[in-house]
Amino acid sequence: MPDADASSLLIRPCPDPKFGDYQCNALIALAKNRENPREFAVRVLAKLDVSEWCEKVELAGAGFINFRLKTSALAQALQSAMRADRPFIQKENPQRTIVIDFSSPNVAKPMHVGHIRSTILGDCLARTLRLLGHRVITDNHIGDWGTQFGMLLVGWKKLLDRNALETDPLAEMERIYKAVQSKCDPEKPGYDAATHEAARAELVKLQNGDAENLVIWTEMKKLSQKQFDEIYSRLGVKFDCTLPESFYNDKVKQVYEELTAKGIAVESEGALVVFQNEPTAPANIKGRPFIIRKRDGAANYASTDLAAVLYRTEELAKEVYPRDDLTVEEVLYVVDSRQRDHIDHLFATVHKWFTATGRNPPRLPQVDFGTILGENNRPLKTRSGENVRLRDLLDEAEERALKIVSQKNPDLPEAQRREIARIVGIGAVKYADLLPNRTSDYVFSWDKMLALDGNTAPYLQYAYVRIRSIFRKGGETVESGIRNAELKLTAPEEITLAKHLLNFGIVLEAVAKEYRPNYLCNYLYELAGNFARFYENCPVLKADEPQRTTRLILCDLTARVLKQGLEVLGIETTEQM
Ligand code: ARG
Repeated sequence: MPDADASSLLIRPCPDPKFGDYQCNALIALAKNRENPREFAVRVLAKLDVSEWCEKVELAGAGFINFRLKTSALAQALQSAMRADRPFIQKENPQRTIVIDFSSPNVAKPMHVGHIRSTILGDCLARTLRLLGHRVITDNHIGDWGTQFGMLLVGWKKLLDRNALETDPLAEMERIYKAVQSKCDPEKPGYDAATHEAARAELVKLQNGDAENLVIWTEMKKLSQKQFDEIYSRLGVKFDCTLPESFYNDKVKQVYEELTAKGIAVESEGALVVFQNEPTAPANIKGRPFIIRKRDGAANYASTDLAAVLYRTEELAKEVYPRDDLTVEEVLYVVDSRQRDHIDHLFATVHKWFTATGRNPPRLPQVDFGTILGENNRPLKTRSGENVRLRDLLDEAEERALKIVSQKNPDLPEAQRREIARIVGIGAVKYADLLPNRTSDYVFSWDKMLALDGNTAPYLQYAYVRIRSIFRKGGETVESGIRNAELKLTAPEEITLAKHLLNFGIVLEAVAKEYRPNYLCNYLYELAGNFARFYENCPVLKADEPQRTTRLILCDLTARVLKQGLEVLGIETTEQM
């Protein structure tokens, strides 16, 4: 097949196990326009010999080929998995260098649930891509340079309550921000033109390096970063770099110059603007202006985002991996669907700019996501209608988990119950966020996410605990003794479980390809279900050899895949629950 591109040779788990374990649909595409796909498939089948691994290969439909694994091949695959550090996972080829922009909260504003999805999704994608062998650079693009600082500076100078700032810095910054903001919206009744003008002037002063404003700004940043760091440490999220919007202050000039020189940006009513007039422009932005420098000369969200793309593709990899010569071909933006227009404008502009200047435009996927809703189906808010703060949400998750853990294990020492509650509570919040298809909105429900039965993190964590306790009962030596043993799969539940285990790597690849962790959640949930059915029907410790060893191997591999899978989701496991 001379023109077969490897990526088109799709072999996937069969949609219906009735037909086989794996299915290949590549022949339909390959036969295209040349011969009848089914006849083509018959010819291919005549030359295909996979008898070492598979039962008789079957042809179906328009030219699908269905494969069913031989039990002996399955046993062999499990055996080599037993010896692998990371069972069932293969590094992807070629290995890419990928920047991931995620979390990216704003200075002087508390992190709210809107940032939680970006943080949890972004972290999970970073973990997945790394596990598959890619170079990943995570970058927290903190909002520390936008319009809000004009208002914050006015508020800081006129309204700040120092005592309040000491007790709860973010609440106080939020208060002064809101007080000034309410006067800066010409559409609102409290509008005050003088305050609005003052805010604009303070922002320009800051961006031009005014000493007093810089000192205040630095303090606001420090106070905010402290809070962000607390949250990241609770979530176990790390960044390779935190390059905030202000980092690009000295880099936006090049953007203005290049875009102007190439005629991509034009002056319009004093502002510098990019119009998306190309026929290929997405409908939502077509003909609309993308303001990349404001009328007063200030940089905005667009200016810094443009400079960031250039920096990320040309400089960043050298900073983070100075010894390797890496090319960043891809920058992922894990950003709320509500920013669709901004992101589309950004990507369209980058494409024109990079092409006009002889650079290779990077792949720029927006990993967008829907909103977290309250039980009333409206965006999640506190009772008084405020945004829910991430810190409060995590506190509540741990408290609720502690109640459940204490009910189940009243005799455990408190410190241990708290540690389990932390792992369960944080895990539940993360899983609830990763399980729904990311592009849809989802309803936040404490009871659902903390349930021990159902598609939840606690259910999976508990499944892991149960398997580990089999080994505790059987004595530690069992585990080490089985590494090189022969397997003999016979019971249908053993075979179903074994086949499911084998697909772990394929699922991770699908997550990486479509940026959809929900595939992994559902895979792990099915794994736990297959395990439960196996364990119900196949006694392990009381079985005779060779069944006993075979079953212990299945237990061990299931536990390892569960643990590794949860780890990729950013969820910890515990040995006791
Ligand atoms: N700071 C922004 C917000 O909180 C998100 C930034 C996303 N990243 C980006 N490069 N625009 O809405």
